[in-house]
Amino acid sequence: MHPLSTPLRLRGIELRSRLGLPPMSTYQATAGNLPDVHWHLPHYQTRSIGMGLVIVEATAVAPEALATPDDLGLWNDDQTGALSEVAAVIAAQGAVPGLQLSHAGRKASRTRPFGEHGDRPLDPAQGGWTPLAPSALAFADGYRVSAEMTRAQIDTAIAQFAAAATRAAAAGFRLLELHAGHGRLLHSYLSPLANRRTDAYGGTFTNRTRLLRQTVRAVRDAWPAELPLAVRLSCTDFLPGGWTLKDTLRLVPLLAEDGADLIDCTSGGIARPEPRPTGPCWQAPYAAAVRARTGVLTAAVGKITNLEQAARLLATGACDLVLMGRQLLIDPMLPARHAPQLAPPPYRRALATVSTPADGHLPPEL
Ligand SMILES: Cc1cc2nc3c(=O)[nH]c(=O)nc-3n(C[C@H](O)[C@H](O)[C@H](O)COP(=O)(O)O)c2cc1C
Repeated sequence: MHPLSTPLRLRGIELRSRLGLPPMSTYQATAGNLPDVHWHLPHYQTRSIGMGLVIVEATAVAPEALATPDDLGLWNDDQTGALSEVAAVIAAQGAVPGLQLSHAGRKASRTRPFGEHGDRPLDPAQGGWTPLAPSALAFADGYRVSAEMTRAQIDTAIAQFAAAATRAAAAGFRLLELHAGHGRLLHSYLSPLANRRTDAYGGTFTNRTRLLRQTVRAVRDAWPAELPLAVRLSCTDFLPGGWTLKDTLRLVPLLAEDGADLIDCTSGGIARPEPRPTGPCWQAPYAAAVRARTGVLTAAVGKITNLEQAARLLATGACDLVLMGRQLLIDPMLPARHAPQLAPPPYRRALATVSTPADGHLPPEL
């Protein structure tokens, strides 16, 4: 069987292929953070064609956990109803509907990263709020200084993740991913560059990993036992004094004990500037290291742009699942070209009979 078509069993569910869409924020939610169904339904339906898994974009567990007012949220029952439509269109295409739960931490209270007023801090006059974080430090110039969370606020954040997990199950999602990368709240507790606390949530490795581990356990209790739980980790901060791959390799077996089934291996995002390398499949070595050294299932992501790369990553044992983000935003039919039988019937004939000529040939009489 082709490596991409090998099903992947995760607890009680099976992905029909090893190809997934990672969470990709589209910033198209409307006031009240309900999905704009005219955007989200066709967007996610199209990106489910021929896919094993589609992880819906970062979804905030509380109003203060939003990165921008245009993010999705899941802290009330109206949001559950609206998101259930998104889960349903993904499942209708045969892909497993996944959802990423997120707390933006010190990346909160921004405008969306595009448009005339994009990528700016949101001030209170514009509806902005004070970001919550382990310590009162701004992420970078141009970001708001966050408030150091109290113990009560830490407990609240854990409870918010668990409540959102219950709602995600009710909405019909079958895989849940916790965002513990890219400098968001759960990552910021891990990294000494953002976490300067001196209480039980800062300092030693055990203390810095406490919030993420408690959150994984609380979510695992709230999320059905037969459904898988993934954690997205920034495997390294790239910066001196920051979180390292060695720390990741130490943490992952503990997260597996706590109930995580899959590690989605990303990197960076804790501070700016950061010396971030890039290139084809550039983060896949983190997925390979985690998989080889811990035995925990991994997803690889980052500049994986064609199916040949995806198949080779799987065949070499670098990962168990390949996530393609930007490529599938612009070319959502790519998976169906590999597996036309997974496309909706109206498209199958076209997939079998039409090829796109690379040259500009026209009939000779023209
Ligand atoms: C427009 C855009 C939105 C993104 N939104 C999210 C998100 O909501 N959550 C997340 O964890 N990562 C997010 N990412 C990171 C992607 O999930 C992915 O890791 C990254 O784009 C690298 O994969 P790629 O090279 O295949 O695009 C986003 C990236 C882009 C470009």
